[in-house]
Amino acid sequence: MINKIDHLGIAVKSLDETVKYYEEALGLKCEHREEVPSQKVRTAFFNVGGTHVELLEPMSPDSPIAKFLEKNPNGGVHHVAFGTSDITAQLAQAKNAGVRLLNETPVPGAHGKQVAFLHPKSTFGVLTELCTE
Ligand code: CO
Repeated sequence: MINKIDHLGIAVKSLDETVKYYEEALGLKCEHREEVPSQKVRTAFFNVGGTHVELLEPMSPDSPIAKFLEKNPNGGVHHVAFGTSDITAQLAQAKNAGVRLLNETPVPGAHGKQVAFLHPKSTFGVLTELCTE
């Protein structure tokens, strides 16, 4: 069952510059930074009332975030992540409903979570991540 919006993933060119904006202009505190090799990204997290903002900087030119930044040079909202109590059942439900899966099985994400993505062509344009608590 999906029980929350876990985070919004936001693609950025520079993690350092963007963290500075979130801290100085919005007064939020970066609580966690992490490299996620499976997605080829560096991340920084801000807790906003239990939902997180996840900033994503590409680690290499073949990162999905690098490709996103080619199309959106200023950066922007990249994906929405729903927290679910059972990611395997959630993936099965989406697949049964005809959704194209980018991950047939969950992969390791940030914070030791298991994550899986649904293809934006099947989700009305919103790259959708499912993640476990
Ligand atoms: Co994410």
